[in-house]
Amino acid sequence: MTTTGNLDALLRETRVFPPSDEFRAQANVNDERIYERAAQDPEAYWAEQAQQLTWFRPFEQILEWNPPHAKWFLGGTLNAAYNAVDRHRESHRKNKAAILWEGEPGDSRVYTYDMLGREVDRAAHMLSRLGVKKGDRVAIYLPMIPELVISMLACAKIGAIHSVVFAGFSAKALRERVVDCDAKVVITADAGHRRGGFIPLKQNTDEALAGTDVRHVLVVQRIGEASGAEMTEGRDVYWHELAKQVPNTPYPPAEMDAEDILFLLYTSGTTGKPKGIVHSTAGYLVGANTSVRTVFDLKDSDVFFCTADIGWITGHTYVVYGPLSAGATVVMYEGAPDWPHRGRLWELVDKYGATIFYTAPTLIRTLMKWGPQFLEPYSLDSLRLLASVGEPINPEAWMWFHSHIGKGRLPIVDTWWQTETGCAMIAPLPGLTSTKPGSATRPVPGISAKVVDEEGNEVEPGHGGYLVITKPWPSMLRTVWGDDDRFRNTYFGKFPGIYLPGDGAHLDEDGYVWILGRIDDVINVSGHRIGTMEVESALVDHPAVAEAAVIGRTHEVKGQAITAFVTLREGVDASPELVTELKQHVVEKIGAMARPEEILFTAELPKTRSAKIMRRLLRDIAEGRVVGDTTTLADPSVIEQLKAAYKDSE
Ligand code: WTA
Repeated sequence: MTTTGNLDALLRETRVFPPSDEFRAQANVNDERIYERAAQDPEAYWAEQAQQLTWFRPFEQILEWNPPHAKWFLGGTLNAAYNAVDRHRESHRKNKAAILWEGEPGDSRVYTYDMLGREVDRAAHMLSRLGVKKGDRVAIYLPMIPELVISMLACAKIGAIHSVVFAGFSAKALRERVVDCDAKVVITADAGHRRGGFIPLKQNTDEALAGTDVRHVLVVQRIGEASGAEMTEGRDVYWHELAKQVPNTPYPPAEMDAEDILFLLYTSGTTGKPKGIVHSTAGYLVGANTSVRTVFDLKDSDVFFCTADIGWITGHTYVVYGPLSAGATVVMYEGAPDWPHRGRLWELVDKYGATIFYTAPTLIRTLMKWGPQFLEPYSLDSLRLLASVGEPINPEAWMWFHSHIGKGRLPIVDTWWQTETGCAMIAPLPGLTSTKPGSATRPVPGISAKVVDEEGNEVEPGHGGYLVITKPWPSMLRTVWGDDDRFRNTYFGKFPGIYLPGDGAHLDEDGYVWILGRIDDVINVSGHRIGTMEVESALVDHPAVAEAAVIGRTHEVKGQAITAFVTLREGVDASPELVTELKQHVVEKIGAMARPEEILFTAELPKTRSAKIMRRLLRDIAEGRVVGDTTTLADPSVIEQLKAAYKDSE
């Protein structure tokens, strides 16, 4: 995402913020030696962290590493739902709030651990009634309502594999994901609230499922009559109706092997087809649980507010499995941050006394644009730690977060990680690490991250290269669902036995890592990963389009915005209506987050003689830079035409 100008500014950043004595004194981790200890024997470190979970049978071996395949905690058995909920029901946390939920229209619900556990048991009975068994896949296409968490945990309780599909995805995107993992049951809602309107989730589901093998659809009634949802006899059943038909008894937790799959989560890559990232039960849970205690300094008294949707990995790890496995209280909000007013999130922080607030740079930049007046009515006094994720946070946004939300005194943890890594990998430990605005600082204990050059040699401080993870870690992805070759090639193809995340990074003189953004054809729009190929395939799917090239250009608020260069078929005329139609077509194929910011029609695309589209040149044009080396172009005159077309469009 970083343009040359931004990069220079980033690397000139010299401000340093050491932890306050007060924070350090109370921090879960405040002994430097943890880094060294973990580096000397990472397996022992992780085995020690794993003791925080409740095991049905203890593991016998910590790690089996046959690159690129890792198995952790072999021989151990456990259940993720038992760890996230039931064990707390048997402790002093029984009547403690697990979820403080706020609906977009202002309705709210509180679930104690005991109440949540009963709902999970009921939902597990329901899924079982619908024929779901251990190992079956269940797709969950729900808005941010408590039933989303309940559904995930009910799957985990049975040992079924959940695959949550973000409710902003279109019917076609849902279909692709349901078909790829061969889901038996889909859980959805009649509709969801969004900025005063509805998202037609049931309607999308009906469209997505036509002709698939899905046997049942379980429908949460969130809206009622007004949703216009229609039920298909024999296939669809309402959640509240099925709930009345199942026993109100505990559901015995399935005893899962450490390596059994807990969930799949699809993410974008460099081809048009999303990858089903596979996460294991024990390793994932150990990663999630460890990082809330170390990176987020989570205590029993904390109220954790992560603004991410559970449709993304951040919500999986930091709304559900991390904080719940640690027995914390979670704030969960259904709606948009500016609905019905711009102070909504801060109103929630005050209302629920949130102590930890975790969000994305794109939101911070939006707040900056609004100006700080909307913060005036709120005290924000309950907050004690701030955190950021999803994309590089520019120093200005970091400073704004620090001054206006943190009142100049709260630590900020910038956490670098991915769907594939399961939990935060490069991040400060807030009681130990001096932070620098814009840097995710150092790898967390137990993680071996390096910055290397093209040959895989570690770069000297002051240089940049590929970010790599040199040793396996518990919450790493195990494979790509149904495509182990893709797993192997994408992540371990460049440097054998070494994990390649696909991000560029700079290492500074103090050994701090500065993430520079993706080095592949993945765009990061408002912290959401979108493959350029996905958008290109969606465009080319339209009958008017002959060819399309999609790039991410720097955008003030979103981090990156999608620009599409489109060549039309012979006889089709370019028009503003067509631009609107094509944008809509992408929304229908993928979802609103993939809507191109701009579409430019061009007679030709810049290609090499071997017909490879030179996206680098397109990026130069879209960002108004001097266009780089064009000597490998088959037809250099294309550039002038494109520049003219781009100018006309502005
Ligand atoms: C980017 C989200 C810089 C990065 C958890 C990564 C970041 C991709 C940061 C993963 C950060 C995430 N600083 N860049 N703190 N966090 N990224 O899978 O490019 O949705 O590869 O996981 O987001 O996105 P994903």
